[in-house]
Amino acid sequence: ALQDETIIVVLGASGDLAKKKTFPALFNLFRLNLLPKATRIIGYARTKMDNKGFHEKIADFLKEGDKSESKKAKEEFLKVCTYLPGAYDEDEAFKNLNKEMEKIEKEGSSKTTNRLFYMALPPNVFTVVAGGLKRNCYVEDGNNRIVIEKPFGKDLESSREMMGELKKLWKEEETFRIDHYLGKEMVKNLLMLRFANPFVDSGLNSNLVDNVQITFKEPFGTEGRGGYFDEFGIIRDIQQNHLSQVLSLLTMERPVSFSAEDIRNEKTKVLRYVPPIKEEDVLIGQYAAANGKPGYKDDDTVPKDSNCPTFAALTLWVNSPRWQGVPFILKAGKALDEAKVEIRIQYKEVTKGLFKDVPRNELVIRIQPNESIYLKFNAKKPGLQMESIPTELNMTYKERLEDFRIPEAYEALILDALQGDHSNFVRDDELDVSWAIFTPILHAIDQGKIKNESYEYGSRGPQSLNNFIGRYGYRRDNES
Ligand code: BG6
Repeated sequence: ALQDETIIVVLGASGDLAKKKTFPALFNLFRLNLLPKATRIIGYARTKMDNKGFHEKIADFLKEGDKSESKKAKEEFLKVCTYLPGAYDEDEAFKNLNKEMEKIEKEGSSKTTNRLFYMALPPNVFTVVAGGLKRNCYVEDGNNRIVIEKPFGKDLESSREMMGELKKLWKEEETFRIDHYLGKEMVKNLLMLRFANPFVDSGLNSNLVDNVQITFKEPFGTEGRGGYFDEFGIIRDIQQNHLSQVLSLLTMERPVSFSAEDIRNEKTKVLRYVPPIKEEDVLIGQYAAANGKPGYKDDDTVPKDSNCPTFAALTLWVNSPRWQGVPFILKAGKALDEAKVEIRIQYKEVTKGLFKDVPRNELVIRIQPNESIYLKFNAKKPGLQMESIPTELNMTYKERLEDFRIPEAYEALILDALQGDHSNFVRDDELDVSWAIFTPILHAIDQGKIKNESYEYGSRGPQSLNNFIGRYGYRRDNES
């Protein structure tokens, strides 16, 4: 249940993530009356600013709702947000933060003390801030929660090291590791789609499915983020976390219940069936200048000889009884021809002999934009001949539903964290298993053993992509 009188501290409050995601999400929860009553929000960062300066900084990003309502809500929201400048590595600064919180708590009438620390911070200060908070801002007889976000290390070893350090300070039940894809409406929908529709779930197996593609495409490059990106690359940025989460929710067995541990047990279990990716199952690419747009290496913060992939297609094999032999192609790329995240399940061609040229079934779950679920299937063309029409069972949200709102991922996740619900957060062992799948090829790429194929900014990706996915039976001819 939601606690009353909660203090949310956003650390890194002057940074991009806080401004663009954390505060707008908090504002929407506030505006919709979903935050615990008497919530107070403290922005904390190194930049020296007063409350007014801070409010000006975040105000432009608080947008939703109709205008008049939004203006009033915004004023009310800013009243509960204050700012406190402070260092990340000094106990004195955290003591000061603690005093500030105690002052607020004294004014209130709550029986419990609830503190949520949201770290919108670069990874190099995670551990030191987690330590400062634990020593100075932890209440023994209250609820203390810490929210952190990737990157959680760079490979299995560094992730273990970082998580090990954190674990000395914060218990697993106090730690909320965000993967914001788990807060997305259509990702959460996977559990409903599969387990509330037995006919869908019973068709998800190697008897019927030929191949699955999970695709992330963005139409812009890494301009302005090159420094960060070059150290990580697309696989650490997207596949190891966001697409693996989608994969595990799509392939796991039915959980005993919707409890956080039951769900995460199943997710972790299915990922344990996935062996490390082999070099032959990897295609990487890097975008080059085209269509008036700069290439990846034109960014001054990127080394001229960088072998960092901005595109990757990886084939994973889930060796569980249900999925053995079915290729799962996880594709992700920056600077491509469109913005699209989707799951595409292509079924086997089993109608040969009876029908000529009847396309195979395909189930598509469009995660964003234009959220939808559609199934390509075949019906008889009305008339006296036996001819087929390929058609669709289509649940496009915009067409089928009136008056709906798709919440931002961060809204869903912050609310979960406030309720102490871990279902949509990454458990430590889950993180470990997913790193184990990707670490060997990440090392091979870092050592230059796998080379990038160049692709044009604004294209569909490297030229050999068609061959790469064609190897696994995927046919593009009926893609919409
Ligand atoms: C982040 C990545 O985790 O996800 C970014 O670091 C990427 O590179 C972003 O752009 C995509 O998120 P969304 O919600 O826009 O699909």
